This record gives sequence, structure tokens and C-alpha cells, in this order.
Amino acid sequence: MDTVLLPIEPARLEGALAPFGASTGLPGEAYTSPATFAWEMRHFFEDSWVCVGRSADLPQAGDRRAVKAGAESALLLRDTEGTPSAFFNVCRHRGHELLEAGETASGERVACPYHGWEYALDGRLRSAPRLGRRASFQVGEHGLAPMRLSEWNGWLFVNVSGEAPDLARHLGNLEEHVLAYAPAGLVSAARQSYLVRANWKLIGENYHECYHCPQIHPELCRVTPSDSGENYAPTGAWVGGSMDLMEHAQTMSMSGRSGGFPLPGLSDRQRRQVYYLGVFPNLYLSLHPDYVLTHRVEPVGPDSSRVECEYLFSPRALAGGGFDPSYATEFWDVTNKEDWAACESVQRGVSSRAFQPGPISGPEDAVYQFITMVADGYVTGRVSRPRVP
Ligand code: FES
Ligand SMILES: [Fe+2]
Repeated sequence: MDTVLLPIEPARLEGALAPFGASTGLPGEAYTSPATFAWEMRHFFEDSWVCVGRSADLPQAGDRRAVKAGAESALLLRDTEGTPSAFFNVCRHRGHELLEAGETASGERVACPYHGWEYALDGRLRSAPRLGRRASFQVGEHGLAPMRLSEWNGWLFVNVSGEAPDLARHLGNLEEHVLAYAPAGLVSAARQSYLVRANWKLIGENYHECYHCPQIHPELCRVTPSDSGENYAPTGAWVGGSMDLMEHAQTMSMSGRSGGFPLPGLSDRQRRQVYYLGVFPNLYLSLHPDYVLTHRVEPVGPDSSRVECEYLFSPRALAGGGFDPSYATEFWDVTNKEDWAACESVQRGVSSRAFQPGPISGPEDAVYQFITMVADGYVTGRVSRPRVP
């Protein structure tokens, strides 16, 4: 068996793995240590499934996009058959990236910007111009290295190591909570991007509790009672639950009014609740009666993360033209910034020599699930499902 060097001493995780009601948070080094961060990129991101965006980001054959996946970079593209695929974003000549992470391009040849080697959309090398004579050089032996990719409800996921269990197994029973929203058919109407000076797990922990809501989210507390809802029992690597809308509120917005249309196919209950589902390690789905908001997190370093929010609506909302998603984006931009300020403050706090992991309380049961998923992962060396109180 492969021995995995543990990132944190198991004895330092006993508090985090104690039964719910007696447990604590993670030790400070989980949020500050470069070695722990590097370990997580390898075992939690590259050995598992990382969300790299939407299939709709590549609308046409030949469209491509480079995205970070753990410490690696993936070149996503839509091939001539119309199927999305992924390659390591590394030229087979001297290793230049084919696109910088975040960049997009299109066309039927993938040209390396450094010396102009060109690849076809299936990754095969087509030409190595002005290379000179090398008797043993076989063009066919220098194709791009493929990366494993799967699509789920319109989102693309990559598994860098190629060795993770299937995506369906990774997600477990998440599908049943998402199905009615038919996310693959929803259309993106807005995006926001943030650089948050906090560890990626602090963003996850913050997402999974509303204990902080009465303190820092006056707008949110006008449309949803902070102590409402319940959490689920996941059979995959995710954590999540519901919150109720207040009687006057149709959705999460400043006024509680919707500027869109209810998503078709939702139950009466789904029309009165919002669901917060965090897919480990980096995708958060917030399902509203009339839109789906996602937070996709790209860790930058132990103390900083990039967060990309995307707002998906029913095609009916966008059909007439002139649709204004700002009722949703304004609300969440304000709420996000309140959250980021809190996460950044916690990052500074956990970096203090005086920091000790504190108690995880009743309203933090989903945080307990998230933290146990992380701590069990540190101990076993692979992504596991959360412990449900
Ligand atoms: S590194 Fe890509 S062509 Fe040289
Ligand atoms: Fe919050």
C-alpha cells in the first residue's frame, strides 16, 4: 500500500474528530502551513474531482479555456465532435503553457505561444515548425497529455491523477437534491470574481453555517430566518442543507422579490426554500426558487483564494432580451463581501500564535460535517464523506 505522508499529526486532529457536541475546529496550521496546502492540492484536489466551470463556457468546437485544478493547469476544449475534453496545459516541447490560466481561445489548431508547435483538437501534435532534423523524432509521440474529465448537470470536473473513483460515486446522493433544478438547461446571466485573503476551507466553513448571519448579514436576515432549515445526510463528498424563505420573500434579493421566473419543475417546498450544497472540494451550489448561484473556489495559496460566482437562470428569463439579473447579483455581492471580510479576519486570527481551535456548536452541524470530512481526509490520505451528527 502507498504510504501517504500525513499533513498534520493525527493527535492534533482529535478535537476536530471528536463526537458532535464535544468537537473543535481544525488546528491553525490547517489554514496557514504551505506544506499542508501543498498536500491538500495533491490529495484533495488532484486525486479527486475539481470543478473547472461550465460546459457552456465552451460553446463551439475549437473553443478552449485554461483553468487551475489544484496545483496543475487544465486545458479544456470542445473537440470536433462537440465533446468537451481536457489535457494538461503543458506543451510537449519545453513545457510552456498553451494558454494562461483564465485565458480563452478558439480555432481548430492549438498553437503554443513559445515556439509555435501546433496540436489538433484531439491533442495530437500536428507540426513542430523549424525543429530541424532529428532522426528519431515522431510527431505522433508528442501529443498533449490527456486529463480525465466528466460532466455533471452542465458543470465540468477534472480528475488530475486519473485515479479517483467515478464522479457519480464521489457525488453520492447529491443528484437527488439537484435534479429538479435541471441545471444543465439553465443559462448564465452574470459572473463575479473575488480574491479573498483567506484559506479555501475558511470559505467552506463560513458557507456552511448561518450562526454568523444575525451578526454580519442584515440584508440576508430580512429574507431568510437564520435558524431555519435542516442539513442532509450525504453519501458522497458533499455537505448541505436548506433554509426557509420568509413569508413575504419570493427569493434571496434585497426586497425579497424576484426579477426572474420560478424554475419549472420545483416542488411547493422547493419554491419556499433555498438550498446550500457544498461539493468537496471547490463548488458551492445555492439553489433558489428562480436561480442557481454557484461559488467556484480556486485556492491560490494557504491564505488566499479566488472565488468565481455565476448566476444561472431559466432560459425563459433571458428569452425576451433585456433581462436584468441585478436583483440577485446585488444581493449576493453585498452578502459575499460581508462573508469575505469575516473570512479574512478569521485568517488573520488563525495565524496568531494565541489561536486554539474552539468549540463547534449546535448551529454549526454542517461545519462539523465539513471539518470531519477534511480531518478524516488528512488521516486517511483521501477524500471521504462527512460524519453526520
Ligand atoms: S514550449 Fe511550446 S513550442 Fe516550445
Ligand atoms: Fe455568510
